[in-house]
Amino acid sequence: MFFPEYRARRTRRTDTLRRMVRENFLRLEDLIYPMFSAFGENIKKEIPSMPGIYQQSIEHIAAEAKEVYELGIPAVILFGIPETKDPLGQDAYSPDGIIQRTVRAIKQEVPELLVITDVCMCEYTDHGHCGVIKNGDVDNDETLKLLAAEALSHARAGADIIAPSDMMDGRVAAIREILDANDFSNIPIMSYSVKYSSAYYGPFRDAADSTPQFGDRRSYQMDPPNRIEALREAELDVQECADFLMVKPALAYLDILRDLKEHFNLPLVAYNVSGEYSMVKAAAERGWIDGDRVMMETLVGMKRAGADLIITYHAKEAARLLRG
Ligand code: PBG
Ligand code: ZN
Repeated sequence: MFFPEYRARRTRRTDTLRRMVRENFLRLEDLIYPMFSAFGENIKKEIPSMPGIYQQSIEHIAAEAKEVYELGIPAVILFGIPETKDPLGQDAYSPDGIIQRTVRAIKQEVPELLVITDVCMCEYTDHGHCGVIKNGDVDNDETLKLLAAEALSHARAGADIIAPSDMMDGRVAAIREILDANDFSNIPIMSYSVKYSSAYYGPFRDAADSTPQFGDRRSYQMDPPNRIEALREAELDVQECADFLMVKPALAYLDILRDLKEHFNLPLVAYNVSGEYSMVKAAAERGWIDGDRVMMETLVGMKRAGADLIITYHAKEAARLLRG
């Protein structure tokens, strides 16, 4: 099969032909939309570095959740901005914490919408780290207790899927154990299995008000150059009975998505993070790129790399394009 008898261009000649030989697709069902729920009333504050994305109070979140569901997007993932932060991040596991109240409000407004909750401490601690601080670093095993309490509290509020993003060792097992012990054995865990210590989270930290007040997250999040270690992280999560694996960020880590797809047989999630969104928005705003086309190309690229699902701030725009 070689030129000139074989010509690769033959199957690219018309739109119909291109559609027939297309290998990968972005579907509405692939999309998960992140939302930032802020304490208070009547708040809807656009995040300057993330045009179209807001910190908003519960009534606005519930309204947007309805819009998201009506667009055909099956799920949202929630992040909370509590009224007060403290060293132990107590709002995270309070029955009346910001996320617990938001989940209940969404479930009342749109019961069919699947609600995923991000489980971590950094949005709730005054120091902004993802766990309890001991001797200047995050203490792994103490943090597990708080994460388990947070996960249980989210499940009690009605969360459909629990998504731990803290990168503590053993957290999937700790969460599975507390959920099972409390009659929540049917609640899946979507683990941020391979989460790198990334500069691409910059805009998110403004949105969630979760920048560490000292140091950085390199003692718990992964070092960007590492690939084999990603397989070890994912393998631990599989052994601890995670139901979904995730790679985060996505764009600079498409090779890792492919690796996980080939090594494991769990549904795989890509997190198209805040900095990836902001770059597209900023360049499009300047007229330097066609924002819609770059967005769709990026998202289908993640599917092609191996993602089954994509968490993306573009979800609503992408859904509108998919619906035509
Ligand atoms: C919390 C968390 C972060 C993100 C998701 N969950 C930030 C961080 O680890 O600093 C980043 C998401 C994004 O950038 O869109 N641990
Ligand atoms: Zn965190």
